[in-house]
Amino acid sequence: MVARFKTQVGIVGAGPAGLMLSHLLHLHGIDSIVLEARSRQYCEERVRAGVLEQGSVDLLHRSGLGTRLDREGMRHEGIEIGLNRKRFRIPLSELTGGKAVTVYGQHEVVKDLIARRLADGGDLRFECGEVSAHCLESERPLLRTSGASGEAEIHCDFIAGCDGSHGVCRPSIPVSALSTYERSYPFAWLGILAAAPPSRGELLYMHHERGFALYSMRSPAITRLYLQCRPDEDLDQWSDDRIWSELHTRLDCDDGWQPIEGRILQKGITGMRSFVVEPMQFGRMFLAGDAAHIVPPTGAKGMNLALADVVVLSEALRAYYKKNSTGPLDRYSNVCLRRVWKAQRFSWWMTSLLHCFEDASPFDRRRQLAELDYLTGSRAAAASLAENYVGLTMEF
Ligand code: FAD
Ligand code: DHB
Repeated sequence: MVARFKTQVGIVGAGPAGLMLSHLLHLHGIDSIVLEARSRQYCEERVRAGVLEQGSVDLLHRSGLGTRLDREGMRHEGIEIGLNRKRFRIPLSELTGGKAVTVYGQHEVVKDLIARRLADGGDLRFECGEVSAHCLESERPLLRTSGASGEAEIHCDFIAGCDGSHGVCRPSIPVSALSTYERSYPFAWLGILAAAPPSRGELLYMHHERGFALYSMRSPAITRLYLQCRPDEDLDQWSDDRIWSELHTRLDCDDGWQPIEGRILQKGITGMRSFVVEPMQFGRMFLAGDAAHIVPPTGAKGMNLALADVVVLSEALRAYYKKNSTGPLDRYSNVCLRRVWKAQRFSWWMTSLLHCFEDASPFDRRRQLAELDYLTGSRAAAASLAENYVGLTMEF
């Protein structure tokens, strides 16, 4: 027996993109079903991004999700760039007319969204089994699931592919209909979460001859730190002592500042990739978030781009259902891609600026140091970084 369901928008993936889309559609009176391969607990505990742009914070407030964010989020009005054991502050708010970023873990955003969707009677199906997408070019596209609890068909008006970089939605579009643009980087990040209070209030992006290091945080009791490492790095070779020793080598500053050590709660390795697929639509399937584009994490843009995509998509679906207008849906891909490419440029630039490239020529190395010198000595250069870091204005 195949169970049959009907919804206006079938959403694959309960990450920030899928959950926020479902929430915004609900606020517009449009129904959706969210299919998620993993368990609720897994989604709520997956530690990933941590920096919300000003526009993402405004979106969370505007859509009624600001309560815990206001209580627990850490507003940062500046970041620091480090070079040769010295730190230089980029005053984000001063350079952007009062904008800032807020440190609030992606899994906290996910927790808030899941709680809100369930309180609003939302249909979220965790551990949904295998998903496949069909009839994308017809008026009635279809999602099928099959798993331990049997088989189901979900008949939709539209499908939103919010299933991240390894999902099923993008591969269900014919290869000939898509162009992909890609770049890989010859390094990765080893990230840790430590039970240690932050020893500074702002993030520090440090360029060091042994490789980039990033000092960040999650709460008054937890710090988040990253080290540039090889893409094939073996995590087993990194004892806690070795990690702290390398973090000190790269992050400690001449004025005596250093990260406070604590028990390492979690460690992992993240690859670095730039990837864009165009267009972000095929027939009645729309791709959003990491399903359509990946940025290297240096610019802290991934989750923010995912949220920006679904704002555009929810507005386009509202125009379709409430004003009978298909124009905004037709423009969805182009509108998103303008923002995506600017975020790609910025993330690539931050990555190139701060990391060590083994194959860099002496010329490349001098040019990189000059770029850092320019950034830390020029208000105009710092203003450009600040404008991009707090997030470009949303356009429709
Ligand atoms: P995801 O969060 O990947 O969600 C996709 C969901 O789909 C998942 O729950 C997955 O389980 C589900 N799924 C996958 N396949 C299927 C399937 N077949 N069927 C059903 N469900 C499926 N971004 C920032 O903005 N700021 C940062 O500071 C930042 N730092 C980062 C640090 C690290 C270490 C990493 C790894 C990423 C970071 N990012 C950052 C990127 C950010 O985490 C991602 O861009 C973000 O998760 C994208 O959200 P999404 O909803 O598009 O995809
Ligand atoms: C964090 C991650 C990033 O990619 C970044 O650029 C800044 C902070 C974080 O996890 O806190």
